[in-house]
Amino acid sequence: MSTEYGNIPEETIDAVLHQHDIVETVGRFVHLTKQGKYMKGLCPFHSEKTPSFTVTPDRQIFYCYGCGMGGNAIKFRMEIEGLSFPEAVKIMAEEAHIPFQNTGGKPESPQDRETGRLLQAYEWSEKFYHFLLKNTEHGRPALEYLRGRGIGDKLIDQFRIGFAPDRWDTLVQFLDKRSFDLAEMEKGGLISARQSGDGYVDRFRSRIIFPIANRSGKTIAFAGRILGEGHPKYVNSPESRLFNKSRVLYNFDQARSAIRKQRQVILFEGYGDVIAAWEAGVHNGVATMGTSLTEQHAAMIKTAADEVLVCYDGDNAGQNAALKSIPILEQAGLQVKIAMLPPGVDPDDYIRSHGKERFMRQVVEDAASTTKFRLANLRRNYKLSEESGRLDYAKAGLPVIAALSSPTEREVYLRELSSEVDISFESLKQDCNLIRQEQHRPAPGQEDPGPAYSGPQSGGRGGQYGSKNRDRGDYGGKGGFSKKGSFGGGNYGAHEENFFPQERRARPNRDLLPAYQAAERRLLYLMLQDRQAADYVAERLGDEFNVPENAAIAAYLYAFYAQDREPDSSRFIASLQDEKLEKTVSSIVMMEGPREWNEQVLDDCIREVRKVPHLRGIERKREDMMRAEKEGDFLLAAQIASEIIALERQ
Ligand code: UTP
Ligand code: MN
Repeated sequence: MSTEYGNIPEETIDAVLHQHDIVETVGRFVHLTKQGKYMKGLCPFHSEKTPSFTVTPDRQIFYCYGCGMGGNAIKFRMEIEGLSFPEAVKIMAEEAHIPFQNTGGKPESPQDRETGRLLQAYEWSEKFYHFLLKNTEHGRPALEYLRGRGIGDKLIDQFRIGFAPDRWDTLVQFLDKRSFDLAEMEKGGLISARQSGDGYVDRFRSRIIFPIANRSGKTIAFAGRILGEGHPKYVNSPESRLFNKSRVLYNFDQARSAIRKQRQVILFEGYGDVIAAWEAGVHNGVATMGTSLTEQHAAMIKTAADEVLVCYDGDNAGQNAALKSIPILEQAGLQVKIAMLPPGVDPDDYIRSHGKERFMRQVVEDAASTTKFRLANLRRNYKLSEESGRLDYAKAGLPVIAALSSPTEREVYLRELSSEVDISFESLKQDCNLIRQEQHRPAPGQEDPGPAYSGPQSGGRGGQYGSKNRDRGDYGGKGGFSKKGSFGGGNYGAHEENFFPQERRARPNRDLLPAYQAAERRLLYLMLQDRQAADYVAERLGDEFNVPENAAIAAYLYAFYAQDREPDSSRFIASLQDEKLEKTVSSIVMMEGPREWNEQVLDDCIREVRKVPHLRGIERKREDMMRAEKEGDFLLAAQIASEIIALERQ
């Protein structure tokens, strides 16, 4: 991102933080109540019923014990408004009347300048098309067409929809008058070169313009839809230095805060679906650009959500695309559910003919698990009214069920299959087990026992199994971070679990942090508040922390103090510009415990930290010794043994 905007001078960031009090900044979005040194409220970044979101005025930071989000006022604005760092600083600087120039360290490269010009051109073109749609004769038919589809003024503004008139050079002239380099504009996909080779013509003619934005809300491409029927239905901007289809999701910028909050994305096929869903109150909807879903899309979704509800058209193409998206999403670590629409109906149609409530109830809330969807998809190929059809369907469906690792889930689907194909549950189960034996036997421990299963469950709403609800439910409940407990230990555990939800199951008991990790965090805690403590640790430990993240934070902190700066968590965080480090620093700053220190306290911690490489050295020697014994070299083994004893004495 920073290349897009160049660097920002430190003084600007300092001034911005000075002018924007954290309580005021957060208070505009979150209702805060005072609790001793803290302010508390409901976290805007995840759903919760009891407040675990804190703001600390004297340190000018926020931190959520529930989801681990934390940072300073700039970070808060970035997250809540979906802004990049430079954008947030720019907006906040303007609000406080701080002069903002974008020229800190590196000068802008020619590429940066070209990108800047293109972004500018897209922004102006978008406004121009929007104006033409709303305020001119040219736009009238398009306006009527949109209204006929239930897209009124509010949605037109929200999605910045526009219209390109039926002329050859509307945009060419507009850009030319504003001294844009037309060759550059052609390369950026805004206009087309004439076939004869001389001059340029508009790329979009007589089309409704849907601007496509990047994740920070800047327009980087257009999709132009024909009015009514016709071919091609859409003309899209070509890929350019700004626009890469496989990395852009329509509406991600506007949906981001809702996605964050619900930890869920609804994935649609068309722009129309996203817009209709928005009108129905679904604000976490996005769409791909008429291409298939890519790994990059999945990774982008994973930055804000845990679950994806795939809501594609009810036709064959849509259902096949949904089927293909499952492994891509699952591989990115996302839970997947599939909305089942009636054949031939798309979400847009559905909402228009059945209304919002039914869409929410019957499509969104009743979405199927991937297994249920796979089975339903298979079932369409067989005639269940005939015995041979039923048998074939059972044969096709069994491997899908056998692949499930949870016995409970298998049972649910086997029972359902049994009633559909009229074959006894016991026989199906036997066949299923045979298939499982043939399929690769999972390694022990990989078997997920699934949640406690109470009573029979008809209808097989398997979506509940392994869904985020289960994960987040018991996570939020036990939490495991006793705020009073040992120094920061719990906080860290909680924080880390949030980043690695899958690992959590494997290591359920992470409440107690190893002593050296607690010691490292305690050192950083004291160092963040007191420069002398930092100097003391710098001399004795340097950046030899065992946790790489802690080592990085220490190194940054030394550099921060080396610039003659006073302890200031919020400004220190601003200097990091790394989300993971920002969160870790915030969690450390929020640790409880005495702020006072003396050399004894620091020495104790340093010793604990230093023990680790030492213990690891001993561990390695033990291995060497065992190897020597195994190989019959008892002399060598004895020698290593005495070395170990010496090391242990130290
Ligand atoms: P649809 O045909 O479902 O389009 O294609 P839609 O946006 O829902 O249009 P309406 O409802 O008829 O107005 C789904 C998506 O496929 C891409 C677009 O991204 C579209 O939103 N597409 C489709 C194209 O890129 N080009 C086309 O010619 C058609
Ligand atoms: Mn459609």
